[in-house]
Amino acid sequence: MSLKQLVKSITPGFVIKKIHASRKAKEMAAFHKLSTEQLDSKNLIHENDVNLSEILNSKTIGEFWNQSKQEIDQFIIPDGTGGVNPGDRRALYYLLCHFKPKSVLEVGTHIGASTLHIASALFMSQVNHGLEVDFKTADIRDVNCKQNKPWLDYGTKYSPLEMITKFGYDSFTTFKAGMSLDLIKTTSETFDFIFLDGDHSGGTVYQEIPAALNILNPNGVILLHDFFPEMKPLWSNGSLVEGPYLATERLIQEGANIKVIPLGDLPWPTKLDTNITSLALLVRT
Ligand SMILES: C[S@@+](CC[C@H](N)C(=O)[O-])C[C@H]1O[C@@H](n2cnc3c(N)ncnc32)[C@H](O)[C@@H]1O
Repeated sequence: MSLKQLVKSITPGFVIKKIHASRKAKEMAAFHKLSTEQLDSKNLIHENDVNLSEILNSKTIGEFWNQSKQEIDQFIIPDGTGGVNPGDRRALYYLLCHFKPKSVLEVGTHIGASTLHIASALFMSQVNHGLEVDFKTADIRDVNCKQNKPWLDYGTKYSPLEMITKFGYDSFTTFKAGMSLDLIKTTSETFDFIFLDGDHSGGTVYQEIPAALNILNPNGVILLHDFFPEMKPLWSNGSLVEGPYLATERLIQEGANIKVIPLGDLPWPTKLDTNITSLALLVRT
């Protein structure tokens, strides 16, 4: 058990609730203080060009998935320690196989649950057919730190880099450490697909989306995680992450030509005995 987990386990519930409430209040104050962002959505994929049902029910992608899953299952990536849940991992895989982006940016590597699935989809649908792809995954922490081995704190045996390397996906995957906004605003690269799963506070997502749009290639895709429509819980446990909804609502109210399409009910299970996902695509209207 890490020190952080130990402290959490011995802290009374009401103290944890108070800490969360105070953190949320600070986050909201910071969010409302931010000046208006300018946003250009011209490179974002149009809503008419997205058919989620076709993507998620694709037989071809399903066959790829069955093959990749055999590799992926060699690792036991835990559920419930901060990585995207197994159903969301599969949805990511389908989206990547469908859109076939040549360049991908992921914000929020953590234990690499999503990272491995993105890399696997890129390999199966493109690299395996002789196509070149480039995948960058970023986290504010050094998720592969050999000294601290942070992945062990989250119940997973291998670092994201070790998992990626096992199948040779390291030939097209690069890990970056740093703040998403700094990385996005300073990179000279552009991307076909950007997955935002880092800091989910309203303030950060409000700034990440316009910055991500600036480095998006034409017909590019931006995928959000932890999107709770109308800021209502999606599951019976009542959990709620407000930031991504607040951020997109504010951008839309300020005139952005964007819309969020939640993936909703997936054709396979996600968590708490449901098929519901908090994944959502950002599209142009
Ligand atoms: C929910 S986890 C991502 C889960 C990951 N996609 C997976 O499936 O394993 C969020 C991650 O974002 C990172 N993070 C938080 N704020 C960030 C920021 N501003 N820039 C980059 N990464 C950030 C955290 O360190 C954490 O590892």
